[in-house]
Amino acid sequence: MQIHTSIESIRKARRQAGKVAFVPTMGNLHEGHITLMRQAGENADAVIASIFVNRLQFGPSEDFNKYPRTLAADCEKLEAAGVAHLFAPDESLMYPEPQTYHVEPAPAQISILEGEFRPGHFRGVATVVLKLLNIVQPDTALLGKKDYQQLMVLTNMVRQLALPVEVLPGETVRAPDGLALSSRNGYLSEAERAEAPRLYRQLTHIRDAVRTGDHDFLKLETEAMTALTEEGWMPDYIAVRRRADLQPPVHEDDPLVVLAAAKLGRTRLIDNLEI
Ligand code: PAF
Repeated sequence: MQIHTSIESIRKARRQAGKVAFVPTMGNLHEGHITLMRQAGENADAVIASIFVNRLQFGPSEDFNKYPRTLAADCEKLEAAGVAHLFAPDESLMYPEPQTYHVEPAPAQISILEGEFRPGHFRGVATVVLKLLNIVQPDTALLGKKDYQQLMVLTNMVRQLALPVEVLPGETVRAPDGLALSSRNGYLSEAERAEAPRLYRQLTHIRDAVRTGDHDFLKLETEAMTALTEEGWMPDYIAVRRRADLQPPVHEDDPLVVLAAAKLGRTRLIDNLEI
């Protein structure tokens, strides 16, 4: 695998690579990322990954400096997954001057769910992803469904700005007990790790209830929030939403997803399940 730290170098590699699939990450890679890399490789001549911890998407109370930087271990995993090129810019390359131009996603899409609890987050994500897409110029970009709202915001950005790239969603990878793989799982204590799959079990319960005809979403959401709170969690939201725009369902046949975010100790976990 070749590691590129300049725009000229990654663009040159891209020009020589044929059909390119791109997987943007912030590093600290786990099996969820690696599954995306493998999926990316299935329909492309070369996979380009990026690792860049993007300051713009961190809130003032979120610790940008403490985000794990594990480049050597990440490179080994990428190499083993058959990734051809890694773009690993430093901050002075991505933000050589203060970033004063931003992508402003639709307020309706970023004032809800994660956006309500992380103001400015999706603006930072959309801005860096547009910049990465402009640098790498891939044919496809793979984004995990684990960050469902991020996937929606970026898919809409690509469509509305007519970017010449196809967004391909990747399925969430789970531990055998159901916990969605996430860099944040590393912050959980042993006891919290044992408790963590409860979030997935609550989502599964709602999914199964809706599938078998219970459409009292508010009751299901409230029951799940209560069940988590009783076990010491601090839930931010559990919400059944339309897949297309994450707004509350209107029509009987709207394809749905149930999304959740909750704090367990000091760790905030998010998860979702399509219904
Ligand atoms: O999902 C992530 O890891 C990040 O939000 C992304 C898409 C790489 C942008 O920094």
